[in-house]
Amino acid sequence: MTTEGRDPMTAVRIVEVGPRDGLQNEREPIPTEAKVAFVDALSEAGYQDIEVSAFVSPSWVPQLADAAEVFARIRRRDGVRYSALVPNEKGLDRALEASVGGIAVFTAASETFNRKNINASIAESIDRFAPVVPRAKREGLFVRGYVSTAFWCPYEGRIEPRAVVDVVRRLLELDVDEISIGDTIGKAVPGEVDDLLDLLLDALPQERVAMHFHDTYGTGVANALCAYERGIAVFDSSAGGVGGCPYAPGAAGNVATEDLVWALSRSGASTGIDLERVSAASDVLASALGRPLRSRVREALGRPRASAPEPRS
Ligand code: HMG
Ligand code: MG
Repeated sequence: MTTEGRDPMTAVRIVEVGPRDGLQNEREPIPTEAKVAFVDALSEAGYQDIEVSAFVSPSWVPQLADAAEVFARIRRRDGVRYSALVPNEKGLDRALEASVGGIAVFTAASETFNRKNINASIAESIDRFAPVVPRAKREGLFVRGYVSTAFWCPYEGRIEPRAVVDVVRRLLELDVDEISIGDTIGKAVPGEVDDLLDLLLDALPQERVAMHFHDTYGTGVANALCAYERGIAVFDSSAGGVGGCPYAPGAAGNVATEDLVWALSRSGASTGIDLERVSAASDVLASALGRPLRSRVREALGRPRASAPEPRS
């Protein structure tokens, strides 16, 4: 990869989605205090954006049923936006009560996935967001829109770029601030990222695009570098590579923040993220989960295992 054509240090914003995307798919209940400790550790690492939880139906995603409590207990750092997923007006009510700094509405480019994930067609989901987005903006919140299954769907297979752009246009009509394009099952390759961006960047300016790569097949970093070369400067990732969607069979974690920050920094980007501190936050999570987390850079930095108790001498 070269940095030709870009400023020597291009500012890139990393949106840490570990506490939300990372944890939503965990089967065993994670204590609220462990989630709070994870977010507090992330707050020390230089992020501008941390997606803390989701105000979705607790029967659909039991793991995040304690979203309000997590928001009430985290130590908020100045300059960090703490946000949450919101699927409907009820979610927005809860999010406002928790004093979030931003929300994300979420839909998909695949009808089947959307139905399984939020029990709505794409059109119905946009209708649901119609009262949510303006109200959130009146309250001063930053509003993101996610488009899931933007490359591959676990049920419908390959998704055509024009289907993605169609959903993006509908979200833009609602005036969301930013659109995050999700490779929900982590199956995209750089050529597919390029093909989508060819069409997408005609529909909206690159400043409003974020990319959200899962890393199921190990192409997350390559895909992000491809998008970075095309001028995209907002990327989602999870500390320690945790993540997955309970309604997307076969989806592994997000690209690990450690891996992404390493690759972007070495390619001329300035992320403001302190890798050691991200890795320290991953340590907090690894010990709560009781298992090692998946990140090549984490391993290279010498943090291959969950922080198991030191053996007694
Ligand atoms: P539904 O069953 O059609 O909705 O679910 P409903 O309106 O009939 O409500 C069912 C029950 O949920 C009712 O309670 C509601 O009050 C309650 P009951 O009367 O049965 O006791 N309810 C709520 N409770 C709390 N907060 C709310 C809320 N809304 C309803 N906001 C619904 C529709 C959208 C609610 C449901 O399908 C849902 O919550 N889905 C969320 C699924 C989810 O979170 N998936 C993972 C996130 S998306 C993702 O991971 C992809 C992403 O990372 C990008 C990528 O990777 O591509 C973002
Ligand atoms: Mg995701």
